[in-house]
Amino acid sequence: MKKILITGALGQIGSELLLKMRDIYGTDQVIATDIKSDKHQGLVQSGPYETLDVTQAQDMFHIAQKYQVDTIIHLAALLSATAEAKPLLAWNLNMGGLVNALEVARELRCQFFTPSSIGAFGPSTPKEHTPQVTIQRPTTMYGVNKVAGELLCDYYFYKFGVDTRGLRFPGLISYVAPPGGGTTDYAVDIYYEALQKSRYTSYIAQGTYMDMMYMPDALRAILALMESDPAKLIHRNAYNVTAMSVQPEDFAQAIRKYIPNFKLDYKVDPIRQAIADSWPNSLDSTAAREEWGFSATYDLDKMTMDMLDKLQEKLSHKVS
Ligand code: SER
Repeated sequence: MKKILITGALGQIGSELLLKMRDIYGTDQVIATDIKSDKHQGLVQSGPYETLDVTQAQDMFHIAQKYQVDTIIHLAALLSATAEAKPLLAWNLNMGGLVNALEVARELRCQFFTPSSIGAFGPSTPKEHTPQVTIQRPTTMYGVNKVAGELLCDYYFYKFGVDTRGLRFPGLISYVAPPGGGTTDYAVDIYYEALQKSRYTSYIAQGTYMDMMYMPDALRAILALMESDPAKLIHRNAYNVTAMSVQPEDFAQAIRKYIPNFKLDYKVDPIRQAIADSWPNSLDSTAAREEWGFSATYDLDKMTMDMLDKLQEKLSHKVS
């Protein structure tokens, strides 16, 4: 990776990956693009930035060509709950954006990364220790997009030799940019509200387990996968990765170590609950560990300590 184009660079993953990659590879080596340019002015002004709607193939090609990129990190996508509310938009954006980005990678011979998700699984998938290779019949539009996306990346690898790589991310927890429109967003919201209100009303029901990961581990996983020896990547699109399998009450217990009066109650959103119920409880990440050395360093307690610390700092700056 020498010259990198990131789509969706102002989103939850992009806003942190962008800065990390600029630290490693150099500011001018990482080109940020997003459909928005009015938000996150700090990021927009932190280095090369172009406004890009990923459904516009020509625009994407011209930006990639202008900067002579050799790597594309394609992050622009709608998350699961938004996709369920606007399925046709999700199909057009998630699949249209992906195929455009893959075409650019094919024409300019770029290395390519795009995230898949626990959403690529469905109700007929084994729920516990979900294997790397298993039944994938998701019942959400987001899941349909993710499975089709994994297959499309396989196709570009086999057919055209594009060096495609991907990870099936669990819910990602972070304090920089909010996720927005996902089913696992509660796991981020709970920390904000713990600090602001000492209570949280969860839209995900008691006893619902989903996999989660702290953003620093997700960023390390992307970088490790992209730098790894291609000869070892049997399951290149896409690897199960996870750090913890947690239910809402587990977050509450971890938060109470720092905010003892924290209260959790529930007002279940049937749409997001149905999505969560269709997803695995816990993933098996053996293939990622064996093929390129994946590991996660944050468990629930270590993540909670850091999240509360960093968020408190962020929120106190906002007030002052
Ligand atoms: N975090 C995502 C979502 O909830 C899952 O990949 O949509």
